[in-house]
Amino acid sequence: MQRSTQKFLIVGGNCLKGMVKVNGSKNASLPILAGTLLCAGTVKVNNVPQLQDIKNMKDVLSYLGAQVTCDGKDIIVDGSKIQSLEISEDLMRRMRASNLVLGPLLSRFGFVKISYPGGCNIGSRPMNLHLKGLKAMGAEIKEKFGYITATTESGLKGAEIHLDVPSVGATENLMMAATLAKGTTVLRNTAKEPEVEDLQKFLNSMGAKISGAGTDSITIEGVDELKPAEHTVIPDRIEAGTYMIAAAVTKSDITLSNVIAEHLKPLIAKLKETGVEITINDDNVRVSGVERPKAVDIKTMPYPGFPTDMQPQMMALLTIAEGTSVITETIFENRFKHVAELRRMGADIQLEGNTAIVRGVPSLTGAYVEASDLRAGAALALAAMAAEDGTVLDSIEHIDRGYERIEKQYNSLGARIIRVSS
Ligand code: EPZ
Repeated sequence: MQRSTQKFLIVGGNCLKGMVKVNGSKNASLPILAGTLLCAGTVKVNNVPQLQDIKNMKDVLSYLGAQVTCDGKDIIVDGSKIQSLEISEDLMRRMRASNLVLGPLLSRFGFVKISYPGGCNIGSRPMNLHLKGLKAMGAEIKEKFGYITATTESGLKGAEIHLDVPSVGATENLMMAATLAKGTTVLRNTAKEPEVEDLQKFLNSMGAKISGAGTDSITIEGVDELKPAEHTVIPDRIEAGTYMIAAAVTKSDITLSNVIAEHLKPLIAKLKETGVEITINDDNVRVSGVERPKAVDIKTMPYPGFPTDMQPQMMALLTIAEGTSVITETIFENRFKHVAELRRMGADIQLEGNTAIVRGVPSLTGAYVEASDLRAGAALALAAMAAEDGTVLDSIEHIDRGYERIEKQYNSLGARIIRVSS
C-alpha cells in the first residue's frame, strides 16, 4: 500500500491537564452546509470546524455554482446562481456526506446526478433508504454506470415514509427533500441524533416547517421557498468524547468547555462505570482519569445509545482496563480495523464476528501503526498517548478529516505529538 505523506510521532506517558474548547460539530455542519442549497439567497453558518470534510463540502457547493466565502469558522453560502446539478465522481468519492446534496437539489430544482459517494470504509454503507424515500415522494431514480440520477417532473410530493433502520443520513436527506415538496411528509423510525435536531433548527430558521427531530417521527410541511438565515452549529459531541477518553486513558484531569453534556450522556454513563470521575458544570465537563479503569461491556446503538463513533476510542481505553470487556458493534459491519493495530501495541483482543473480547493489559507499548479510518485513527492516537515510549502513526489524513489539527489541541494539554511529512 502506498505509504501516506504525513505521520504523527507520539511520545506516550504524558499526563494531560488544563482546559480545551470543543469545536463545532462536523456531523451537524455537513448536512447544514448541504441544506444551504435549498435557499436562493445568502445563508451564514457559524462555528464550523476547519476540517478536510468541511473543505470537501465547500468544494462540492462551489462546483455546483454556489458562492462560498469563509470568515474564520463562519461560512457564507450564496445559492442564488446554481449552474450545475451534477457532481463529478472525483468530488463524490472524497466523502460519504456528499450524498446529502441529493435531497436539497432534487427538492429545489427537480434534478440531480451524483456518483456513489466514498467515505470511511467501515461498511458497505448503501443508500437504499435515501432512494426509497425519494421514490415515495415521486422522484424517478436511475442507477447506471455508478451514477444515481434523480428527477421529478412536477416536483416532489409529501409522503409517509418508514425507515427500515434509523439512518442519520437518510433522515437528513429526506427532511431536506420534503421542505419544498407539495404537501406534508411524515418520516418514521427516524434517527434521533442531536445533529438531526440541529438540522431541523437550521431549516426552520430559513422558513421550513419541520417538527419532531430528536424523536422517532418527523413531520415536514412543504413550503414554496426558503429564505436567507444565520445559524450557529452545535458543539461536536464526538470530538468532546474523544477528549474525555484521552483524559481517562492517560490518567489525566482535564476540563472541556463549549459542550452540551446532554449529548454526551451515553458516554458519560459508561465512563463512570469504568471508575472515571466526571463533573458536569454549566457549559463545561471535567474528567479525571483513575489509576486503572474497570472493564465494561459496550454495545453500539443509534442515539441515545452508545455511539458507534466512540467505539474505537473506548476500545483503546479498555485495552488497559482491569478485567475483560465485551464490545459489540451493531451499526457498521466493518468497524474493527483498529484492532490489528492496537494488538501491535500489546493489546489482547479477540474478534468474534461483530464482537470484540478485550482482555485488559497493564499497559501498551509504542509501535508503528496505521490509521484506516477517521475514528480508528483517533483511537490509535489515544492509545499512543497512553503507551510507554514512542509510536509512529501513519495515514493521519484520515484523522484530519474529522479533527481540527488534533496535535495542536492535544499538545496544548501536555501531549507530545509531532506531525512529520515523509
Ligand atoms: C452518519 O453516517 C455519520 N456521518 C457517521 O459518522 C456515523 O457513524 C453514522 O451516522 C451513524 O451514527 C455523518 O453524519 C456525516 P447511517 P451515515 O446512515 O448517515 C445503514 C464519523 O466518524 N444504512 O446512520 O452514513 C448503514 O449501512 C462518521 O463522523 C442502510 O442500510 O450513517 C449503517 O449500517 C462515520 N441504508 C446504518 O444504516 C441506507 O440507505 C447507519 O448508517 C443508509 C444507511
